[in-house]
Amino acid sequence: MRNALACGCAAAGIALAGAAGVHAQDPAPYMTGETRPAEMLEARRILMDTIGRNNDFLHDSVDGHFEWDGVSVRARLDAMSSMLFAFPHLYHPGTDIWSEAREAEDAASVSLSTAAAWEDFEGFYALAQEASMTALEASLAHDDDVVIALIEELESQCEACHEVYRQDRASGRASLSTGSD
Ligand code: HEC
Repeated sequence: MRNALACGCAAAGIALAGAAGVHAQDPAPYMTGETRPAEMLEARRILMDTIGRNNDFLHDSVDGHFEWDGVSVRARLDAMSSMLFAFPHLYHPGTDIWSEAREAEDAASVSLSTAAAWEDFEGFYALAQEASMTALEASLAHDDDVVIALIEELESQCEACHEVYRQDRASGRASLSTGSD
């Protein structure tokens, strides 16, 4: 027991020293948008991809491809609400990463956002918050018909935002004013 405690203290000491070391080497580890822009972009894409997969589940449930499970549908809506709330916070300036060469090499490593997301951040942010609120409201609704109506409303909010702030791959990257490799 004594040894176990001693080990615990030593481990805690190492952890503290490690944390202090991080601060000593990197004065701003919290500024990940500035220090790790490609990772912030990746986090944003993974978040949206997960929102998309949850949305597929919702629509497959509404369309009868899955047996309707109201608890699971509401739990996914609740998670989607949080993700939609967090999403626009991953738009630090250096994270508009795109170049033709980079996209050709690894399409998953470039941003699909349009420049408008940065140029009209307030408008973009407002749409994310609206969609987040719709998902939250749906997650809390008792009546399944209300949940389904809100799932459809949420879908139109996804599309409205994509219309302006997401790249239409068919028309390329023409609307982008900035980009880096
Ligand atoms: C506030 C705007 C906004 C809302 C609301 C929104 N999206 Fe998105 N979505 C975007 C943007 C911008 C991107 C591109 C992100 C990037 O690559 O930088 C994107 C990307 C995606 C992707 C591609 C993910 C990838 O990188 O592979 C999917 C799938 C997706 N959205 C689904 C949805 C669904 C489903 C909803 C609604 C439940 C939704 N989105 C709501 C703006 C939005």
